[in-house]
Amino acid sequence: MASLKDEIEKRRTFAVIAHPDGGKTTLTEKLLLFGGAIQVAGAVKSNKIKKSTTSDFMEIEKQRGISVATSVMGFNYRACNINILDTPGHKDFAEDTYRTLTAVDSVIVVIDVAKGVEEQTEKLVEVCRMRDTPVIVFVNKMDREGKDGFDLLDEIEEKLQLTTCPLSWPIGMGQDFKGVYNLYQKQLNLFAPNTKYGNILEFNDISLPDLEQHIGDDAAETLREEVETIEEVYPSFDREQYLAGKLSPVFFGSAINNFGVKELLDCFIEIAPSPVHFKTEERIIDPYENKFSGFVFKIHANMDPRHRDRIAFLRVCSGTFQRNTNYLHVRKEKKIKFSNPTTFMASKKEVVDNAYPGDIVGLYDSGNFKIGDTLTEGEVLHFKGIPSFSPEQFKYIENANPMKSKQLAKGIRQLMDEGVAQLFTKNTNNRKIIGTVGQLQFEVLQYRLKHEYGASCRYEPIQLYKACWITSDNTAKLSEFIRKKANYMAKDKEDRDVYLAESRWMLQSAQNDYPELEFHFTSEF
Ligand code: G4P
Repeated sequence: MASLKDEIEKRRTFAVIAHPDGGKTTLTEKLLLFGGAIQVAGAVKSNKIKKSTTSDFMEIEKQRGISVATSVMGFNYRACNINILDTPGHKDFAEDTYRTLTAVDSVIVVIDVAKGVEEQTEKLVEVCRMRDTPVIVFVNKMDREGKDGFDLLDEIEEKLQLTTCPLSWPIGMGQDFKGVYNLYQKQLNLFAPNTKYGNILEFNDISLPDLEQHIGDDAAETLREEVETIEEVYPSFDREQYLAGKLSPVFFGSAINNFGVKELLDCFIEIAPSPVHFKTEERIIDPYENKFSGFVFKIHANMDPRHRDRIAFLRVCSGTFQRNTNYLHVRKEKKIKFSNPTTFMASKKEVVDNAYPGDIVGLYDSGNFKIGDTLTEGEVLHFKGIPSFSPEQFKYIENANPMKSKQLAKGIRQLMDEGVAQLFTKNTNNRKIIGTVGQLQFEVLQYRLKHEYGASCRYEPIQLYKACWITSDNTAKLSEFIRKKANYMAKDKEDRDVYLAESRWMLQSAQNDYPELEFHFTSEF
C-alpha cells in the first residue's frame, strides 16, 4: 500500500482562474481531455452566466446540483492525481471564488492575448497574493491578433504584481501564428490547429539554420532576437521562487486549438506544489502529519426540493480521512462520522474509503456545516484564510409573509452559512441588512428562500458605502465609538461589531477621529 508520503507527493490541487471569456472552461476541458477524464470536447458544462439573470443562474445551479461533480474535477495524468477546483466566473459570485482559492495549492491564470489583464483577474490574483499561492500564467487565444508578448509581460507585472518568467515564447500571432518555442524544454512546437499536440521538434540550439526551414527567415530572426532579450531581461526559472509565490512562469497557446496545453500540463505536474501546509489560529498544519484535519470551504445546496441535503466540500489538509470514522466537528464540539463521503472524478461521484491531503471530499449535510468549519481527530483547530470580504451592496431584508417568519429565519441562517451573502443586524432596531458583492446575489437569495424554504422576502433600499469590522485594544474608545455611532453600528452573524459607513467621507472621518480603532475590510484579522 502506498504510504501517506507517496499519496501526498502525487497530488496537485489547483484552480483555473480568468476574467469571464478568457478561456477558463476551454482550458479546463482540454486538461481533462489530456488526462483521459473525458472523451470529447463539450463535456464540461460552462458555469458562466451569459445573460446575468437569476433564472439563468438558477438553471445552471440546478444542472450543477444534479451533477455537482463539476465543482471539483479529479483526473489522473502520468503518475499524478490532479484535482481542479471550479470557480464561478461571474463577478457577483467572486466571494465563492475567493473561498475556493483558500483550498488550492496553486493556480493557473488564463489571460486573453487581445484583452490583456482584465479587472476580475486582478482581484483574483490579489487574493492569491494574500496567501503567496504559486501562479502560472497561460496567455490564451494566440490564434487571434493581440498584444505584443513583451507588452503583455509588462502589463502582468504591473497590474498583477507578479514577477514573470516566460517558459514558452510565441512565434507570431493571429493569422501568422507559427507556434511557440518552449524555453523550458528547448523544443520548437509548431502550430497545427486542432491536432492533439501541434508538431513538436527537439531544438536545443535556435542559432542553427534549420530554424529558418521551419518558420521562415523573418520569424527565425525575430525569435532569436526575442529569446536573447528574454535571457537578458527576465530571471531564469527558479522553482523555489515559484513555490514561494514570487516568480510566475508564463506560457502562450491557444486552448481551443489544443495548442500549448500539453506543455503547460507537463510542466505543471513537474513544478506545481504537492499539498502544502495550512495555517490555523493555533499552529501550522503539515500535510504529512499522521492525524487527519480538514476544513469546509464550500457548501453546495441540492436544488432538488425533494432532497434537502446539501454537500459540504472538505479540503483534507493532513493525515488520512476515513469513511465511517468519528471526527470532531470543532465548532459544534461533537463527533460526527460519514458513511457516504464522496470524491469527484471528472464525470462521476464515487464513495471513498480513504482520502489524503489535497483531496476534496463531499460530505452530505443536513445543516451541520458552515463555511470554515474544521474536522479533526480531536484537536481544536481553526483554519485561517477563509475571510468574508466587506460587501459592496446593501439592502434591508423584510419578511413579506408573516405566516412564514420561522421559515424565513431558518432560510436566512442556512443560506448565510452557505456563504450566499452576508447578514448584519442593526444595533438600534434589529433590522436585518443583507450585504453582497453583486446584485445577482440578492436575487438568488430571494429565489432560494422562496423555492427551498417557502419564505417570501422583500428588499428595501439603504444608502451605505461600506461595512467594516472594528476592533481596538482600547475598550473605552471602542465603547465610545459604538455609543456615538449607534445608528451606524451592527453585528455580523458571529456577533462581531460592524461599522456601516454611509459614505467614503464618513469612513475617513471616523478613521481620523478614532486612531485607536482598527477598521478591517475582511472578516479575518
Ligand atoms: P471562460 O470559461 O473563461 O468564460 O471562457 P470560455 O472557455 O468559455 O471561452 C470564451 C470564448 O473564447 C469561447 O467562445 C471560446 O470558444 C473562446 N476561446 C477559448 N480559447 C480560445 C482560443 O484559444 N482561441 C480563440 N480564438 N478562441 C478561444 P464563445 O464564442 O464565447 O463561446 P462558444 O460558443 O465557442 O462556446
